[in-house]
Amino acid sequence: MRKSWRSERLSQLGSSIFAEVAEWRKEAAGKGRDIINLGIGSPDKPPTEAVRKALSEAALRTDIYAYPGTHGSTGFRRQAAAWMEHRFGVKLDPDHELVSLMGSQDGLSHLAMSLCNPGDVVIVPNPGYPIYTAALALAGVEPYLLPLKEENHFLPDLDSVPVEVWERAKFILLNYPGNPVSAVVDLAFFDRLLAKARQYGVLVVHDAAYSEMAFDGHEPPSILAVPGALDGAVEFHSLSKSFNMAGCRIGFLAGNREAVGALRELKENIDYGVFGAVQEAGVAALQEAMSDSAPPKAGVLYEQRRNSFIEALAAEGWAVEKPKATMFAWAKLPERSDGTTWTSREFARGLLDQTGVVVIPGEAFGSEGEGYVRIALVEDEARLREAARRIGAYLKS
Ligand SMILES: Cc1ncc(COP(=O)(O)O)c(C=O)c1O
Repeated sequence: MRKSWRSERLSQLGSSIFAEVAEWRKEAAGKGRDIINLGIGSPDKPPTEAVRKALSEAALRTDIYAYPGTHGSTGFRRQAAAWMEHRFGVKLDPDHELVSLMGSQDGLSHLAMSLCNPGDVVIVPNPGYPIYTAALALAGVEPYLLPLKEENHFLPDLDSVPVEVWERAKFILLNYPGNPVSAVVDLAFFDRLLAKARQYGVLVVHDAAYSEMAFDGHEPPSILAVPGALDGAVEFHSLSKSFNMAGCRIGFLAGNREAVGALRELKENIDYGVFGAVQEAGVAALQEAMSDSAPPKAGVLYEQRRNSFIEALAAEGWAVEKPKATMFAWAKLPERSDGTTWTSREFARGLLDQTGVVVIPGEAFGSEGEGYVRIALVEDEARLREAARRIGAYLKS
C-alpha cells in the first residue's frame, strides 16, 4: 500500500478557507460574474519610479547575480537602520541588530524555529494573521491564543494570560496596526507590554507591517522606541505595503541582538538572502521616504478609499467602524433581514455567489474572527463604491 506523501503537519498549518474562497471565486467567475476581489491584501499600485529604476539598473549589473548572502547587504542594512532612526528615533547597530528578510513572512515563519524548543509556548493574537499560528505548528510550539475583543478596542488583556502561560512562554507576538483587525496602539501600550513580558523573561515580537498605513494623522510608533526595548523586543518591518513592493519580497527584522542573531543563524542554513537588485530597490525606497521629496505615505490613498467605502456602506444601511489604519476593514456582520445571524463563511460565500464581491470570512483568522469579514480596500474608489452598492443589494435580498 502506498504511504501518504503529505505530512500531517500540513493539516495544522491553518485555515483552508483561503483556498476555499479562491474556489468560490473561480466558480463565480466561471458563471460570468464580474469579480471585485477585496479578498487579497496585496497593494494594487506599483512602487515609485525611483524604486523601479533602482531595481532595473541593478538588474542590468553583471556583478549582482552571485548568492547575495543571508544577512542582507551592508548597504540595505545600513539604510534600514537609518530609516528606523529617521522614522521612529530608534538607533540600531546594522551589523548585529538587523537582518534582511525575503518579506517579513520569511521571518515570521522561521522565528519560532530559531527561538523555541518543542513544547515551548508562544502567545499569539486571536484573530491574527494566519502565519503566526502556522509557524508555531512548524516548530512544534504550543500556541496560547490571546483574544482581541471589540469591547477592549481589540487590545489584548495581558492580565488575562495565566501566570503558568507567561512562565512557559518564549515570546509574545502582536501586530499594530493589525491585520485583520486594524486597531492601533501608542507607545505607552508598548511600554506596558514590555514591562509585563520582562517580568517573565518573555521576548516581545512586534509585526509592524502596516506602520506606514495609518489614518487621521496617527503615526504608528515602533516598539523599539521604548527606552530599553532592545533588551526585550524585536520588530518585523515590511516594504510590501509601505512601498508597494509586495512582489519584490523584502523586509527586515530589527531589535534584540540575541533574537536577531538566532533568526540569522537559522537562515544561514536555509537560504542565501534577498536578490541584490531587490535590496538596491529597497535602499531606494527607504532613501526616498527620508528625502525632502518623499512621496505621500501609502496610508494617504487608503484613507481616501476608506472614507468612500465606509460612507457608501453606511448609505446602504451597514454601519461598519472606520478602520484607523491598514488596507482592511474589519466588518462586524449585521443581522439578516429575517433577524437571524450569518456565519462569516455563509455571508462571504453568498455575497460572492450573488454579487461577485470577494471578502474573507473572519474565521480564517481564528475563532474570535467569527461574526466578522475582512474587506481589503485594494480597488479604486469607484470600484469600492460599486462593491458597497452590491453588498447593500445582498443585505436586502
Ligand atoms: C500582518 C502582516 N504581517 C506580515 C505580512 C507579510 O508581509 P511580507 O512578507 O510581504 O513582508 C503580512 C502580509 O499580508 C501581514 O498582513
